[in-house]
Amino acid sequence: MSINKEVKRVTTNTLMMMKQAGEKISMLTAYDYSFAKIIDAAGIDAILVGDSASNVMAGHETTLPITLDQMIYHASSVIRGVQRCLVVVDLPFGTYQSNSEIALASAIRIMKETGAHAIKLEGGEEAIDSIRKIVSAGIPVMGHLGLTPQSIYKFGTYAVRAKEEAEAEKLKTDAKLLQDAGCFATVLEKIPAELAKEVTESLLIPVIGIGAGKYCDGQVLVMHDMLGINTEFKPKFLRQYLNVFEQATDAVKSYITDVKSSDFPNDKEQY
Ligand code: KIV
Repeated sequence: MSINKEVKRVTTNTLMMMKQAGEKISMLTAYDYSFAKIIDAAGIDAILVGDSASNVMAGHETTLPITLDQMIYHASSVIRGVQRCLVVVDLPFGTYQSNSEIALASAIRIMKETGAHAIKLEGGEEAIDSIRKIVSAGIPVMGHLGLTPQSIYKFGTYAVRAKEEAEAEKLKTDAKLLQDAGCFATVLEKIPAELAKEVTESLLIPVIGIGAGKYCDGQVLVMHDMLGINTEFKPKFLRQYLNVFEQATDAVKSYITDVKSSDFPNDKEQY
């Protein structure tokens, strides 16, 4: 019996029940109305309006430039396309790191102006005050540990995180802190599968992996990567389900040919 199929709307409680029942959680990113509608209608459990919008929608090299206003625009578009799944929105870089009051104000703007159901933010111990403050205002928070792209200039590389013992120990401590601070789930990005397994088994809250192996309670991918819209990014952990870039290019080439040859529009395609 699938918990996902039983519920009319997926909530944070649904994800918790899925973890308890051993039912895997599916999550994808989306940034606009049309794709959110497709993904939701396909039966996804959760959509993440990721700050990866900075990369795949705006063409920036990192996630750092995207603003709160831009995230609100993307999230409110996604919400209009969704009827059933849980929608989580990233707090962008610079909108929560300075202090917990600012973090709460940013989270409130997301909830009020988009209609989304939860926010996500990156970091462990250093983010705990903000997480507590946001949770105590009634806003569900998803954590994000491991490779946290907003800290890319600190890491200096997008390589696998927590391979060394000290970083792995900190990650385990941080994961427990996130749970104790009230996070309803956490993302683990690009860490060894065995470490992700240990964290997943030690937490009561669901763990959603990306590049963190098969033992997590669920998986998230960036939609543009798994649909092959963005073809330059091919990490080992990615499974590409379509090659939209190639198919869309072929479709556009056919259209150009048809226009140039006066094949389009034909008699049936005019008034
Ligand atoms: O912004 C994003 O898409 C994310 C995922 C990679 C988890 O945070």
